[in-house]
Formats: sequence, structure tokens, C-alpha cells
Amino acid sequence: MQSLVSITDFSKQDILQALERAAEFEANPNQPLLSGKVVATLFFEPSTRTRLSFETAINRLGGRIIGFSDASSTSISKGETLKDTIMMVANYADLIVMRHPLEGAARYAAEISRVPIINAGDGANQHPTQTLLDLYSIQKTQGTLHGLNIAMVGDLKYGRTVHSLLQAMSLFNTHFNFIAPQELAMPKEYKQLLKSRNIAYEEHSELAEHIGEADIIYMTRVQRERFLDPIEYERVKNVYVLHNKMLQDTKPNVKILHPLPRVNEISADVDDNPKAYYFAQAGNGVFARMAAICKLLSY
Ligand code: CP
Repeated sequence: MQSLVSITDFSKQDILQALERAAEFEANPNQPLLSGKVVATLFFEPSTRTRLSFETAINRLGGRIIGFSDASSTSISKGETLKDTIMMVANYADLIVMRHPLEGAARYAAEISRVPIINAGDGANQHPTQTLLDLYSIQKTQGTLHGLNIAMVGDLKYGRTVHSLLQAMSLFNTHFNFIAPQELAMPKEYKQLLKSRNIAYEEHSELAEHIGEADIIYMTRVQRERFLDPIEYERVKNVYVLHNKMLQDTKPNVKILHPLPRVNEISADVDDNPKAYYFAQAGNGVFARMAAICKLLSY
């Protein structure tokens, strides 16, 4: 039984197969492969895209959904543990999709569950299905995953989406530009991984000067919910704001991605620029998640 807790749970071949499968689902989205199956979506943290795109994916595959989007309405509010919750839900569902604020919660769930777990985000750690949809979006817009220049911008310390994406894109000879204030720099372990794979990266603190070579500009939100000190958050929250005029001298093929939600980091005047791809990117989540679900349930 396989779970998807970290993107590293999928080999490069698994990833490429999932992207092919996502393209098949995009071409033909209604395939009742999950008929008779029940999928649980357990969201201990707020979500719009991840939960709704998983639920759309399950519906398009003909499966049924149980779950919650607010843990305060469950017996967790009476003191039930994560362990007991997972043990119970594994009795009811064939697959569990879980988002949790604690790093490592999804790995723990996968260790005790008798059905596969998909990590829909665990704290600042990993968000592997976001990575699948990001990879799908990159491949779709650039025609390849190989040899691209990716600028990752914003909260690279707590941003689980950039951590997962870095791990996956390091399999494809990517050149990374990390653009972050010192307080939100990419953690050492991810830079070590790149060094061990001979993947080039640069670190910068200025946005406008370092997006000119990018094929992908991956913007991220500074996440208020990850800061212990609100004053620290206030100091860095608006550190980078991408405006339409800053895209004038960028490459014609560049696409702006963002896992969303955005707060202020992409100005609304970018939305109509053909280089903006973040809403289409979120749409790709349905197909990528259909592919991930089918892989874990062996369909
Ligand atoms: N990208 C993402 O995880 O969005 P939600 O928090 O809305 O699910």
C-alpha cells in the first residue's frame, strides 16, 4: 500500500506517469473508475482549492466523499486524538486525504492507517499534490520540465509548496533563483539537496532584478499563520509585490505561478497579462489529483 506524504514518495517515473495521466483526465474528465469507493477528506486547516479540487476529482471519478472542513465540529473538540481519528476513518473510507497544521502529521497518519493517505499539506513541510499540479502546469506551458529557470519568490522558509516543488524540479536540471528576505530564506536542508544533485541555485533579496531570465516566476504568500511573532510577520508581509509593469522585460514564454491564496504579492493588474497563469494552474489541480488518487488506488 502506497501513500503520498512527500513528493519523494513518487519516483521520477511515477511523477511523469502521473502527469501523462493528468493530461488524459483533462482530455476526458468524467471516468467512473472509483465507483463504489469512498474517499475521506479531513481538513484540520482551512483550504479552498485543495479540498474543492480533491472533491471535484473524486466526483469526476464517480467516488463518494465523507469528511470535514472544520475539525471543531468533530470529536477532536472533545479530546479525541489524531491516531484515534485516523483509525476510525480508515474503517469507513478507501483513501484518506488529510491537511494538518503539524509537520509530520501526514507521515504519522500513513504509518498507522490501513488505507492510503494523501498529504494535502502538513504545516511548513510538504504539499505533494500541489507539486503535481505545479509540474503539470509547468510542462503544459513550457513544453518541457527540463533545463528551466525558476524564480521562487517570497516565503521560502515556511512555504511547503516551494519545498515540494524544489525536490521534484531538482530531478530535471533546473536553475533556481531564490528571492526572499533573509528571515524567510530557503532552509539549508533543501539547498543541501540541490548541492548533492549538482543543481545550480542563486539567492537574492531583490525581485525586479532577477526575474528577467525566468521561465517560471513562482510567487508565494507570506503566511501569517506560520509566524509565532506577529511583529515579525508585519515586518515582512509586503516584502515583494509583483506589478504588471515589472513584467515588461521578462521572457515571452514566462508564466507566473502561485499556489494561491494571494494576499498582496501579485497586484490585480497582473491578472489580465497573458503571462499570468495562477488561475489556470489551480484548475489543473483537479486533473493532477485525479491522477494521484488513481495511482494510490491502483486504477
Ligand atoms: N494551494 C492551496 O493549498 O490552496 P488552499 O489552501 O486554498 O487549499
